[in-house]
Amino acid sequence: METVVSGIRSTGKLHLGNYYGAIQNFIKMQHEYNCYFFIADLHSLTTHPTPADLHGNVKQVLVEYLAAGIDPERATIYIQSDVPEVAELYLYLNMNAYLGELERATSFKDKVRANPDNVNAGLLTYPVLMAADIIIHKATKVPVGKDQEQHLEMARTFGNRFNRLYDTEYFPEPYAFNYSNNLVKIPGLDGKGKMGKSEGEANAVYLSDSPEIIRKKVLKAVTDGGPTTENQEKPQEIQNLFDLMKVVSSADTYEHFDDLYNKMQIRYGDFKKQLAEDMIIATAPIREKINDIANDEAYLRQVARYGAAKARESASKTIKEVREIIGFRNF
Ligand code: TYM
Repeated sequence: METVVSGIRSTGKLHLGNYYGAIQNFIKMQHEYNCYFFIADLHSLTTHPTPADLHGNVKQVLVEYLAAGIDPERATIYIQSDVPEVAELYLYLNMNAYLGELERATSFKDKVRANPDNVNAGLLTYPVLMAADIIIHKATKVPVGKDQEQHLEMARTFGNRFNRLYDTEYFPEPYAFNYSNNLVKIPGLDGKGKMGKSEGEANAVYLSDSPEIIRKKVLKAVTDGGPTTENQEKPQEIQNLFDLMKVVSSADTYEHFDDLYNKMQIRYGDFKKQLAEDMIIATAPIREKINDIANDEAYLRQVARYGAAKARESASKTIKEVREIIGFRNF
């Protein structure tokens, strides 16, 4: 059975981008593959969270994984820092990761531009840690959104380089995965780029947002003055809202509003109202479970411990073999 690995950084509440880009696939894949889904808390250290924030954010992602339907009996759910073997593999892979290629990574360049005062080595070697996360379990499928495509390419590079250096075929190649064959990029509400945690609170719809908040955010989403000719191409901000409707609403609803747009009869107020209601319905089953799960500390502890033990079993087997391949020998 093929092995699947994916993770989400513990940087706060999860949004629709995380859900449709990643979690929706996790939930399906857990029935078909040997799955490892983790909380990337080591990755979140690049932005120096306080100990209290770090713990709170890890808990938030764990709660939302469970509320969204990841089943700890089917998939191995764990916290990255509970598996120190990952950090060891990261160290080995770093010996064969080069400054030039790391500096060229799009996500690194974006981070440098956004925060030039915090260009730390952890940020630079972020793709190496991500490669370690994936190949530690010898995964071949990695359910992620479109923004992670380049990181997957780098994970293949680092795994292949290790194989070549030690003349082995030890690590298989991991590929980004989505059931539809197209990696998705869920847009935000600001009329510009993707939905994200760093793009401002109002740009993202969180799985934990109340119906009132969702309505408020969607009604404030950027729109234009409306179509001026029939069948005209939609400007970015309108296309974004239609893209969101495509994932949360039924095909009939989408076609209805698309048709109105093409006939120049669309009323953005109605369109946004429908979009907000469908987002509320889509997130309701998750939202309703979040509080109960968050209050059950004993259950969360049990899930985290059980997952850590299973993940370490797999990771320590790899590390033992990797140490042998590299040439570390016991005296
Ligand atoms: P992160 O925490 O930024 O995002 C987690 C997952 O959500 C997806 N995603 C989106 N998909 C579509 N549209 C969006 N607007 C959107 N926003 C976020 C991301 O593609 C991702 O799948 N580096 C990773 C975490 C990570 C990881 C790994 C993932 C660390 N190690 C190993 C897979 C395998 C990250 O920062 O994701």
